Amino acid sequence: MLFEGKRVLITGAASGIGRATAIRFAQEGALITIGDIDESGLAETASMMASAPRVHLYDASDLEASRALVRDAAGDGLDIVCNIAGLLKWGRSEEFSLDDFERVLKINTTSVFAICQAALPHLVESRGNIVNTASTAALQGIAYTIAYSASKHAVAAITKGLAVEFASRGVRINAVCPGHVNTAMGNAAPPEGDLDWAIVMRNAPKLVDGMCEPEDIAELFAWLASDRARKVTGSLFTIDGGQLAG
Ligand SMILES: NC(=O)c1ccc[n+]([C@@H]2O[C@H](COP(=O)([O-])OP(=O)(O)OC[C@H]3O[C@@H](n4cnc5c(N)ncnc54)[C@H](O)[C@@H]3O)[C@@H](O)[C@H]2O)c1
Repeated sequence: MLFEGKRVLITGAASGIGRATAIRFAQEGALITIGDIDESGLAETASMMASAPRVHLYDASDLEASRALVRDAAGDGLDIVCNIAGLLKWGRSEEFSLDDFERVLKINTTSVFAICQAALPHLVESRGNIVNTASTAALQGIAYTIAYSASKHAVAAITKGLAVEFASRGVRINAVCPGHVNTAMGNAAPPEGDLDWAIVMRNAPKLVDGMCEPEDIAELFAWLASDRARKVTGSLFTIDGGQLAG
């Protein structure tokens, strides 16, 4: 098993990619703490896992709560952090409120950094690793999702910068960059109004049935977090059915 006895924190585990990752890591023998703001979703995920996780309700927009999540997860040490919680808000840039802009950045970026910061002393001890969730939105501009795209570009920067800073202490930090994934977020209805949808959809997946399932992304998390990827750090892994290929 890939993660026998490994102590793992997975955020965003109440649904979608986080849920699939929690289920996948539990199959591989991990001792898992799952965190999210959605209590009933967390309970449902726990019921789907091969072994009972520690369940921690938190709000990523509260940075002290983000740090408390790490303290809880690292009670007996910590080997792996999968930062998956995230928020997407669509909107025409002319009308996008700065409060919403700051909220997206707080949840998708500042909380991710706070969790990395709180986890890194434990990961130095265990020679562990972090897998963050960026997005194809970290690699290109996407209309009507400027805050989200900015937050994910920042996750890419955090990932690469921390990888350089912590390489000599044996900690790997990587990020996945999914394209369109079949989850609540991936299928969220676009905003009403006068949008030019063609400029959003120009980078469609190229594969037949190219939209990813959460389990496809969980597989990449499992590989990156395992010793099979022991030479991989500071990398952004695109998984998008060829969306960005051309
Ligand atoms: N679905 C896609 O197409 C896609 C593409 C690229 C990247 N991503 C990223 O993948 C990650 C998971 O998204 P998903 O597609 O599984 O969507 P999802 O909506 O199913 O899951 C997001 C999870 O984050 C949690 N969350 C949101 N706000 C929170 C908060 N304030 N505190 C704690 N938890 C909070 C939600 O409750 C939910 O369980 C996100 O970081 C997202 O940006 C998704």
